[in-house]
Amino acid sequence: MRQGRVPIGMLASGRGSNVQAILDAAAENGFPGDVAVVLSDREDAPALDRARRAGVDAIHVDPLRKGARLAPTAEERILAELERRRVHLLALAGFMRILSPRFLDAFPGPVLNIHPSLLPAFPGLHAQRRALDHGVKIAGCTVHHVDRGIDTGPIIAQAAVPVIEGDDEATLAKRILAKEHAIYPEAIRAVLSASVADTRREGSIDE
Ligand code: GRF
Repeated sequence: MRQGRVPIGMLASGRGSNVQAILDAAAENGFPGDVAVVLSDREDAPALDRARRAGVDAIHVDPLRKGARLAPTAEERILAELERRRVHLLALAGFMRILSPRFLDAFPGPVLNIHPSLLPAFPGLHAQRRALDHGVKIAGCTVHHVDRGIDTGPIIAQAAVPVIEGDDEATLAKRILAKEHAIYPEAIRAVLSASVADTRREGSIDE
C-alpha cells in the first residue's frame, strides 16, 4: 500500500481480467487507490493468481454453501479481512455470489460491480447471449453501485460497442470486455476522487 492511497478490496470468482485491469491502473502514478486484497469464493480462481503475481494479498474464502449466497460466517470472514486492511472501496468483478443485505449494511464504503450489458437491459447471467438473442444493435457494459437487487444499483459509468454482423457470444463478449477494462478503473477513480472531496468538505481530511 502506497501512502495516501485508498485501500481497495476486490471479490472475483474466475478469470480476473478486470482484477488485472485494476491492478494495472493502480500501478500507475496518480491513481487514488491501491488494491489491498483480492478475495475469491473459488480456490482455483485465476484472479487470485493475478493478485499474487502483483504482490497483493490473495485469499480464498470457503463460501460454506452451494448456490448464489455465501454462508453468514463466510461473509463475516470477508468483512474481517476487509476491515483488517481498512478497505474503503469494494469492487466486484465476475464475483458469482450475491452479497446479503447484512453484508452491504456492514461494509462502510462503496461497493461497485461491473456488468457486461447496458443496464438496466439484461441484468443477471448470460447478458451478452441474451443481448444477441434479442437482436440489439448496440451492446456494452456498466459499472454500478451494488444494492440489494441483482445489477440494479445506481449507474456510475457505461460504454457502448456495436454489435457486428456475424457476432457470436464470444466475439461480442470480447469487444465488451475491452471496454470493461477501460471503464472500471476510471469509475473507481471517479468514486474515490468524489469521496475524498466529500471527506474534505466535511473537514475530516487535513490538506
Ligand atoms: C465480466 O464480463 C464482467 O462484466 C462479468 O463477469 C465477467 C468477469 O470477467 N461480471 P473477468 O473475471 O473480470 O475476466
